[in-house]
Amino acid sequence: MTHTGRATAVSVLAGVALPHVHAVENNAIQVAMVGCGGRGAGAAANALPVKNGPAKFVAMADVVPKKLNDSRDKLKTQFSNQVGVPPDRRFLGFDAYRKAMDCLRAGDVVIPATPPAFRWVQFTYAVERGLHTFMEKAVAVDGPTTRGMLKLGELTAIRSRGV
Ligand SMILES: NC(=O)c1ccc[n+]([C@@H]2O[C@H](COP(=O)([O-])OP(=O)(O)OC[C@H]3O[C@@H](n4cnc5c(N)ncnc54)[C@H](O)[C@@H]3O)[C@@H](O)[C@H]2O)c1
Repeated sequence: MTHTGRATAVSVLAGVALPHVHAVENNAIQVAMVGCGGRGAGAAANALPVKNGPAKFVAMADVVPKKLNDSRDKLKTQFSNQVGVPPDRRFLGFDAYRKAMDCLRAGDVVIPATPPAFRWVQFTYAVERGLHTFMEKAVAVDGPTTRGMLKLGELTAIRSRGV
């Protein structure tokens, strides 16, 4: 990841009581991408080689089949053993984000890299599911979505304090 990317990214501990380790029989940190364009694929490529993994790429969501398939092929070429996104984990449509996140366990990682207008909706579901969320700026671009994001920030802060 470049320094610019690191500085502008937002990493959020989205839920409560997130497990520090996963079950021994499947201890990989699972990663899903929502919005499979250039930045999403770039963020996934940054996430997969992490040293404190192992990390596995397990689900994808987009509204355009070609974007999803091109990104999947590119990541598969780069990280063959870590990319296991079979056809039944490639989701299309405006509700695809929910299906991709439903493939994850609490404490896994979702990368919403969609246009900003969709982010608060997708982030809300990530919070509900207790997922770690990695988002690039801009996370919101107008009053209503910014207020939605701020509310979610308060909610996650309250939850993580156990209040
Ligand atoms: N911080 C940075 O340095 C940086 C750099 C590049 C992009 N970005 C941001 O990241 C986001 C993505 O940028 P990009 O260059 O990858 O754009 P892109 O157009 O290549 O990718 C966006 C993807 O999201 C998909 N999409 C759109 N609406 C969707 C929805 N409702 N559900 C699921 N998928 C949906 C599109 O089909 C597309 O594949 C943008 O918000 C952009 O501003 C940030």
